[in-house]
Amino acid sequence: MTIPEPTGVHPAWLPPEAFRAIGSRRTLVLGAGLLVGTVRDEVARACAAYGGALRHPGVTGDLDTRETARGDRADGAFDLVFALSTAQSPPDAVQAVRERSRRRYGDAGPGIGDEGFLIARHDGVTVVLADEPAGLLYGLFHVVRLGKPAFGAARPLERHRPAMRLRMLDHWDNVDVHPVMGQVERGYAGGSIFWRDGALSGDLTRVGAYGRLLAACGVNAITVNNVNVHATEAHLLTDRLGDVAAIADRLRPYGVRVHLSAGFASPIALGGLPTADPLDEDVREWWARTTERVYQAIPDLGGYVVKADSEGQPGPFAYGRSHADGANVLADALAPFGGVVHWRAFVYNHRQDWRDRSVDRARAAYDHFTPLDGLFRGNVILQVKHGPIDFQVREPSSPLIAAMPATRVAVELQVTQEYTGQQRHVCYLAPMWSEVLAFRPWGPAGPDVARIVAGAAADRDDIGTEHDGWTADETGCLVGVSNVGDDPYWTGHPLAQANLYAFGRLAWAPWTDPGAILDEWIDLTFAPAETGDAERLRRTLHAVMDGSWRTYERYTAPLGVGFMVRPGHHYGPDVDGYEYTPWGTYHFADRDGVGVDRTRATGTGFTGQYPPPWSEVYESLEQCPDELLLFFHHVPYGHVLHSGSTVIQHIYDTHFAGVEQVAETRALWAKLAGAGPVPPDVHARVSELLDEQLRCAEEWRDQINAYFFRKSGVPDAHGRRIP
Ligand code: GCU
Repeated sequence: MTIPEPTGVHPAWLPPEAFRAIGSRRTLVLGAGLLVGTVRDEVARACAAYGGALRHPGVTGDLDTRETARGDRADGAFDLVFALSTAQSPPDAVQAVRERSRRRYGDAGPGIGDEGFLIARHDGVTVVLADEPAGLLYGLFHVVRLGKPAFGAARPLERHRPAMRLRMLDHWDNVDVHPVMGQVERGYAGGSIFWRDGALSGDLTRVGAYGRLLAACGVNAITVNNVNVHATEAHLLTDRLGDVAAIADRLRPYGVRVHLSAGFASPIALGGLPTADPLDEDVREWWARTTERVYQAIPDLGGYVVKADSEGQPGPFAYGRSHADGANVLADALAPFGGVVHWRAFVYNHRQDWRDRSVDRARAAYDHFTPLDGLFRGNVILQVKHGPIDFQVREPSSPLIAAMPATRVAVELQVTQEYTGQQRHVCYLAPMWSEVLAFRPWGPAGPDVARIVAGAAADRDDIGTEHDGWTADETGCLVGVSNVGDDPYWTGHPLAQANLYAFGRLAWAPWTDPGAILDEWIDLTFAPAETGDAERLRRTLHAVMDGSWRTYERYTAPLGVGFMVRPGHHYGPDVDGYEYTPWGTYHFADRDGVGVDRTRATGTGFTGQYPPPWSEVYESLEQCPDELLLFFHHVPYGHVLHSGSTVIQHIYDTHFAGVEQVAETRALWAKLAGAGPVPPDVHARVSELLDEQLRCAEEWRDQINAYFFRKSGVPDAHGRRIP
C-alpha cells in the first residue's frame, strides 16, 4: 500500500517529524493481515526518511517482505517490535513481555480485545503485542505519540484498550450542493472530502489521508452522508453504492468502517413501494433485499444511521408506528451481516406554538423514547445528543442517557462548531466533553455517562488509573459530528484540529485530562524541538485554548439559557431571533427577569426526568448550579447567584470579561509571529480568525448587554459603556 499523501494539505497531527523516533530505529514487525501491512508500510516510510531499518519476515499471502537496507539484522538487534500474540519464535524480548503479561493477567490473557495492545520495554527493546492487527495499528500510533520516551529507560507493562467499541464521526456531507445547507451541512471547513458537485470526489487520496489521521487518534467508524438524506443521497443505498464502496476501500487499511445515513422512506423513494410502514411485509422484504446487496458490495459496512420524524425527515409516526417498530425493521435487515442501526433520539416538535408554555422541547426525547426501553433489537443503538436541546455552549446532560437501561445508548457530541464559533472562534471543546462524560446521573456513588455508554461493569471504579481503564462490554459508542472539510487545514481554523483529535482520544479513554490531550496534539502537530521556543509555544497554546470554551460561554448566551444566535446560519448574536418562532428555543426575557421554568412545581416538569439527586438539585433555585440557572429557572434580574453577583451584573461582567479574554488571546498569539515552530501560514490564518473572533465577541457583548440593560433598566455597577 502506498501511504496517502495529498498535496497542499496540512499534515495535521501526522507530520513526517512525528515519526522521527521510530524512523531512526530498527523495527521488527511480526504478523500478517491488512492492518499489519499498514503498520509495516508506516514504519518503512519513516525509516526511509530517517535512516532506520525494518524487518517484516516470512509472511505469506498478499504481503510482500520489503526490507530496508539495514533490516536484515539478526533477531534481537531491534529497538522496537510489533508482534501479534500468535507470532512464532519471536525474539526474547517478546517472550519476556508475554511472560510478564501472563504473570499479571493470568492464563486467560490480558483481555485487550481486538483493538487493544500491550506495550513494555525489556532489555532495550520496546515491544507492542496485540491479539489482532488493529491492536498493532493503534500500538504504532501510541509509539508515535510517545516519541523518543518510548525508547527510554525500562517501561512497565501497560495495557491499552478502547473504552468505546465504536468511536464514530458522522459527516453531515451532501453529495449535491444543497441550496441552503451547501455541500456540508453545518460545515465550516470548505466542501466535502468525499463528494463534489453531485459526484464522488475525483481524487480520494485525501480520504486515505483522513483515515490515517483518524486511526492515529483512535476513531474507527464514520458515516459518509448527512443525517438529512436528500434525493440524490438516498441513492447511495442502491445505485450509487459503488461510490460508498470506493470510500470504504480507502479507509479499510486504517481500520475505519463506513456507515450510511439512510432515509426512512427509502422503500417509497427508491423501491417504488406505496408505503414505508415498518410493519408492512413488502417494506420489510425491501429492506432485507436492499441490505443484502449493500453487504455484497461492502462486506464490512458498519450499518445505517437514521434521523426519523425529526425536523421534517420521514419516520414511523406517519404510519402510527413506534420508533421501536421503525428501528427494528432496519435492525432485522442488518442483523445477518453484523450491522447496526444508529437510531437518533433527536425527535421533537419543530412546529410548536411559541405561545403554548406547556410544550418543552427539552422534554421531547425522554418522553418519546423511555416508553420504548427494552423494545429495540440488540443491534439498535439509540443515538442521543449529549444535552436535551441541541449542542448549546452549556446544557445539562440529557436525562435520556440514564433512562434506557435495556437499550444500547450512544452519546452524540458536536465536533463541528455550529453553536461554538463555527471554526472562526478558538473553542477547544475537550473540557466541555470531559464534563459531559464525567456527569453522574445518580450522584457521586453512581456511574458516569462515559461508563453508562461504554456499558462497562458498574462495580469497578478504576477510572483515572493510568492505563487500565475499565472493561467495556464491547457495545459502547461515542459519536461526534465531524468538523472536517476540504480546507487545506482540514478544519478551517487550524486550532480546531485539536477538537477532532480530542474527540478520538476521549472516545478511546474518556477519563483523559483535556490538558494532557492538548499536549499530545501540540507535540505531534508542531513537533517542537526541545528548545525555549517550544516551551513558549506550549505555554501560549494552553493560554489560548485551555479556557477557550468558557471564554466563548462568557460572551454569548448567559447562564445556560442557550441560543440567542442568528436564525438559520446560527453565527453571531440575535437575542430574540428565535423567541417567537416554532423551534422551541426560547429565553422568555421580559422587564422583570429571564430564563425557562422547567421545574415540577411551576414549570414544564422537565426536572422530573432526572433521577435524584439531580431532580432535586435542578428543581431547587438554591441548589441549581449557576451555569445552568436559566436553563431550569425563570428568575428576576436581581436574583443573587452563588457567586454573590446578581444575574444582571453577571451578564454585564461576563460579557466584558469574555471580550477582554479574546483580546488577550489575540495579543498572545501575535507574539508567536516569525519565530519558533508555528509555520507562517498557520500563524497568519489563526491571526486573521482571531481578528474576526474579537469583532464578533464585541458584537455579542454589545447586543447582549444592550438588550438586558434596555429590558431591565438596571445600570452596570461599574458604569461601563453599554450602547
Ligand atoms: C441541528 C442542526 C441541523 C441538524 C440537526 C440534527 O438542529 O442545526 O442542521 O440537521 O441539528 O442534528 O439533525
